[in-house]
Amino acid sequence: MKKKIRLGVNIDHVATLRNARNEDFPNLLKVASILKDSHVDLITVHLREDRRHIRDKDVEELKNKNYLPLNLEMAATDEMKNICFKTNPFSCCIVPERREELTTEGGLDVKNQLDYLGEFVSDFKDKDIKLSFFVDPEIEQIDAAAKLGVKVVEIHTGKFSLNYNKKNHQSEFNRIERAAEHCLKVGIDCHAGHGLNFDNAGEISSIPNIVELNVGHFLISNALLDGLNITIKKFMKIINHPSI
Ligand code: PXP
Repeated sequence: MKKKIRLGVNIDHVATLRNARNEDFPNLLKVASILKDSHVDLITVHLREDRRHIRDKDVEELKNKNYLPLNLEMAATDEMKNICFKTNPFSCCIVPERREELTTEGGLDVKNQLDYLGEFVSDFKDKDIKLSFFVDPEIEQIDAAAKLGVKVVEIHTGKFSLNYNKKNHQSEFNRIERAAEHCLKVGIDCHAGHGLNFDNAGEISSIPNIVELNVGHFLISNALLDGLNITIKKFMKIINHPSI
């Protein structure tokens, strides 16, 4: 039987809503506590350079309260590395970051930054932090991550999500499936995320060696309609009992 897929819920957009009034509502810790009660596996946050949603204090408080293991998404910069080491999250996912983008629009280009990223990850060697790279579903990027000794990649499912039920649906799915198979071959754990929702997450979950999903925008948005508890319950059922 397939192993239960872990779910990390990205709460960046709870912070987006809170920051709209610059007060403390909705409160991130309260949301984290509801997610714990809903049996989510991880709280995921992306601390961006411009702090447009999650702020340094949020990272610190989420870690200190420790409702759930913290997965910190961040760019490969010295500033972020220092924050990461100070926080000591359960896991850390390295993402590319451009100030002008609305969200993380593509994967990390590992193969063209081997020297820089190699030096960056070498500082994690004696840390007890599960390090991953967020990459497009490309064999060369996975091989590059393996070359640097990184043991986990998160496959960017954004293109698949955008093409869901459209012309390129199958080819995008095949790319992710091949990438996940390649992870298994080279001994890398395979996570996935971006743009996942009730409709498309079942298909991604049906890929045998994908062991973790990180999902944000859809879950937080749908919580406005159905409530957070019900949204999470339904999503967990979909990813652990895919109908395909
Ligand atoms: N995984 C990573 C590495 C991300 O950067 C993001 C977006 O912040 C997500 C997952 C979640 O994407 P979405 O909000 O579309 O579910």
